[in-house]
Amino acid sequence: MNFRLFSTDLDGTIVGDPEGTARFRRFWESLPDEQRPLLAFNTGRPLDDTRNLIGVAGLPVPDYIIAGVGTEIFDYGRQLLLPEYHESFGVHWDLRKIEDIVGATPGIERQPPENLHPYKSSWYWHDASKEDRSELEQRLEDAGIEACVIYSSDRDLDVLPAKANKGNALRWLADRLKLDHATLLVAGDSGNDSSMFYVSDVRGIVVGNARAELIEAIAGLEIYRASAEIADGVLEGFRHYGLKS
Ligand code: GLC
Ligand code: MG
Repeated sequence: MNFRLFSTDLDGTIVGDPEGTARFRRFWESLPDEQRPLLAFNTGRPLDDTRNLIGVAGLPVPDYIIAGVGTEIFDYGRQLLLPEYHESFGVHWDLRKIEDIVGATPGIERQPPENLHPYKSSWYWHDASKEDRSELEQRLEDAGIEACVIYSSDRDLDVLPAKANKGNALRWLADRLKLDHATLLVAGDSGNDSSMFYVSDVRGIVVGNARAELIEAIAGLEIYRASAEIADGVLEGFRHYGLKS
């Protein structure tokens, strides 16, 4: 396969086992320049936190960071944010109203300020049932808000503009770079990763430690399910797709 861009989640996918991360990095850096795809970290973490994590976790240098669950795109080589991306979100976004509606939900708690930004309203909501979540989505819809509600790890609730998620951010970036979607490879482990696997024609790797919420969300798609965990699962997926150093 001739991959041009690898879009990977961080926590639980290439971060979580330091030795595995080191193996991933060694492999990545050993790829000949002309064969090495572009690297995009596609994470729920906010941008500054992600930039900081690169050194802390010993990650290879990326070309792009898609941060805050697809709400921000940062060109790492040029060290600049791509604010044009926000224009693709459309207009039905009223943060104040969203905060009021979501904040009125029993048992919900706002995430710390560093996890929030104008296009990302994030909350902790432990073990929310499907019914609770549908009810919340309904309240937002009734208020005329076009939001995308993403629940991960039985705890994290992200309310984002309807068009902002990891998959749409990847699609936007690929289109900007004029990359055919069949040259994209993605990897993930939890609920907020599912939209990446739905970008048409992409190849995907689900790591062995993936959460049931992701496996359920992508049932029926043709995706490589690794048995190895975290970064070693990604390396297993690379072997499956013939990415060799
Ligand atoms: C990361 C972010 C958090 C978000 C979660 C799930 O942990 O820091 O804000 O809710 O990912 O997307
Ligand atoms: Mg993850």
